[in-house]
Amino acid sequence: MDAGSYIQSLLVSDSLRRSIIREMVEMLRLAKGSRGLDAGCGIGLQCRLLAEEVGPSGHVTGLDVSAEMLAYGRKMVDEAGMSGQVSFREGDVASLPFDTNTFDWAWSADCVGYAPMEPLPLLRELARVVKPGGTVAIAAWSSEKVLPGYPRLEARLGATPAGIAPFSHGKRPELHFLRALGWFRQLGMEESKARTLADSVCGPLNDDTRNALLALFDMRWPNASAELSSCDLAEFQRLCLPDSPDFILNVPDYHAFFTYTMFWGRVPG
Ligand SMILES: C[S@@+](CC[C@H](N)C(=O)[O-])C[C@H]1O[C@@H](n2cnc3c(N)ncnc32)[C@H](O)[C@@H]1O
Repeated sequence: MDAGSYIQSLLVSDSLRRSIIREMVEMLRLAKGSRGLDAGCGIGLQCRLLAEEVGPSGHVTGLDVSAEMLAYGRKMVDEAGMSGQVSFREGDVASLPFDTNTFDWAWSADCVGYAPMEPLPLLRELARVVKPGGTVAIAAWSSEKVLPGYPRLEARLGATPAGIAPFSHGKRPELHFLRALGWFRQLGMEESKARTLADSVCGPLNDDTRNALLALFDMRWPNASAELSSCDLAEFQRLCLPDSPDFILNVPDYHAFFTYTMFWGRVPG
């Protein structure tokens, strides 16, 4: 996906994710005035939430490999009048451009543990740059039920390679995001915890939610035509394509839910 489309997909999905992510950030009880890192920050949507949480005397550094994402993030932060509280840095989570013990905490959503890279070295890097006793938190989208009434089709879509991405069949089970407590244990992190939060959407859908769900369908099941039997594909096209008279997002009583899972712990010492 090119950077422009990636930025657009983050903006479109924000309406779906915002409240659940705010709730997760609040659960961390970050200290007012503290300084933290948002690793794999994308366009900085969560940098702003985190900055609100630590208040005007705190600071958030957003780090990402993509210069285009960071440029967009800088513009949004400037427009929100938050450039004193949020700054951005280009870099790779695998080799963070910060000294050991730089931050009071680190956060990463849909990046560390979720991107198709070995998670342990990335989590170790986050822990390295956080001071002893500070919090390291990783969060990721962990499930959805968006085709109510069609459990068999949804299960089949969920079992396709795109449906289980970024995990893949044959990968060591310990590398699945939902096994992250093991990564925290291996790094000697203290007081490690996991929580899964759910949110629901109900019809009739407003435009933002409808567009976010459509983008989700495209993202979760981009190759449905190559991966389903002809019978399942016909049902998928009937329910999931906006031009179909049976498009599921037009059902007035539509209901869907999705979850985010967060793991967090304290750096030992
Ligand atoms: C799905 S987006 C999530 C962005 C943001 N955390 C959010 O939830 O809105 C994943 C981000 O991780 C970044 N990323 C992927 N691999 C990275 C790496 N090795 N180091 C830094 N950023 C990385 C991508 O450029 C992208 O912006």
